[in-house]
Amino acid sequence: SKVEPHILVIFGASGDLAQRKLIPAVYDLYRGGYLPDHFALLGASRTDFSDEEFRQKVVFDNEFFDEDKKAEPKLKEFAKLLFYQDLKQYDGEEDINKLKARLQDLSQQFQTGNRFIFYLSTPPKLYSTIPNALAASGLNEPEGGWARIVIEKPFGYDEESAKRLNKEIQSVFPENNIYRIDHYLGKETVQNLLVTRFANGFFEPLWNRNYVQSVQITAAETVGVGSRGGYYDESGALRDMIQNHLLQVLAHVAMEPPIRADAYSIRGEKMKLFQSLRPIKGEQVAEQVVRAQYTGGKTKDGEVVAYRDAEGVPDDSTTETYVGMKFFIDNWRWAGVPFFIRTGKCLPLKVTEVVITFKNPPQAIFASYDDYAMKCDNQLIIRIQPDEGMAMEFGMKVPGEGFRVKNVDMDFFYRELTTKDVPESYSRLLLDCMKGDPTLYARGDSVEAAWGFVDPIIEAWEKNEAPLVTYEAGTWGPEEADRLWDNVGGGWRNPQ
Ligand code: BG6
Repeated sequence: SKVEPHILVIFGASGDLAQRKLIPAVYDLYRGGYLPDHFALLGASRTDFSDEEFRQKVVFDNEFFDEDKKAEPKLKEFAKLLFYQDLKQYDGEEDINKLKARLQDLSQQFQTGNRFIFYLSTPPKLYSTIPNALAASGLNEPEGGWARIVIEKPFGYDEESAKRLNKEIQSVFPENNIYRIDHYLGKETVQNLLVTRFANGFFEPLWNRNYVQSVQITAAETVGVGSRGGYYDESGALRDMIQNHLLQVLAHVAMEPPIRADAYSIRGEKMKLFQSLRPIKGEQVAEQVVRAQYTGGKTKDGEVVAYRDAEGVPDDSTTETYVGMKFFIDNWRWAGVPFFIRTGKCLPLKVTEVVITFKNPPQAIFASYDDYAMKCDNQLIIRIQPDEGMAMEFGMKVPGEGFRVKNVDMDFFYRELTTKDVPESYSRLLLDCMKGDPTLYARGDSVEAAWGFVDPIIEAWEKNEAPLVTYEAGTWGPEEADRLWDNVGGGWRNPQ
């Protein structure tokens, strides 16, 4: 479908996310010809800028535009579509009136009609303030047009707060106009999980408890918390990565086939999956979830100081920078299959991948020739990033005498599918919102359900029912996480 004329309003436009991701993403859409002829962007935040100063900061001086793009004549044209409105606070009557008047002017000038996207790239405490302020001025239901609202993470900090927030926003915007963004859903390879599973005939028959031994998802990062210590310490790896990004990836790996590839069907199946996660509670937390914090060490990016010594982090912080967990999905497809998720900062590589390990054949008939045949792994490795692609591992005969078996790789690289750059996740997601398609956004109830799964873990940690361990920066995490695999067979796959 096509994108109707509209104005994109970014609250928090002078902040880090807007510069790093949002403005470059809108530019990519512009140069790709995806934006409508009638379009403008209004940045809003507390800093005092003129339109010109704003353009200078977020376009011409923005270090997140590479040099090639900076040289493009189109960039100058693009900058002319950008405007700025300073706000003293986000909900004062004076502010809202100023904003409204400005939007009226711009709508006339650019003939965009009364159509608005309000993107909240602000501190989370404003996530209910701004929708309410927009409602007070009628901007949530603009006459003859539409208003959509995009909310960044974190959406709440537990199930209860997520419910409260949903209720508040839903009281002024209908659910279909609320876009809860999770940038992992914008990654091509996360969407490709659905295509791999449901556009092919031969994966899906194997994709269940009869043939799958285990499923693991790894999201490793080499970076530490850098200068984000203040934010991160309030959050931790479970809230920062697992509750949102990795449970969304899990849903794509494990959900039932949707009847159609549309928002209603896909988001409905994901919700069912979240409802079938077996809760981890009380003493199970210590058995099934490992939390850890990095100590100083050497990573690919150089020496790092211990998490507790990082800027903005208290000396006695118990916030986890690593989580490894094992859990089960209680439904017909997955009964009894162990699932593993791990994520951490200061690990050896930046890599996100999903590994499906298939069961061994019932008899190891070549074992007498070579004990390798016993260990032969049938794995499907889906590389979410970097080197987007997929590899299948299986045993083949080594040429020569006897029947010696060796694991080989069949490797597919996603970049071979296109000569263009694989689109950035923010541009894909923004474009979907502009088209009014929420398929790749998280629905309110599923965000609550995902919190419902992590809440009891956080609760047990707060009561100190499970130890906090450490790992040296630059390693694959604490050895405690290896023990999660006891009695399962196999282990974490550490990519090279
Ligand atoms: C963000 C987290 O949501 O995702 C960060 O807050 C994390 O801590 C980032 O580094 C990872 O995203 P990506 O796309 O680089 O894997």
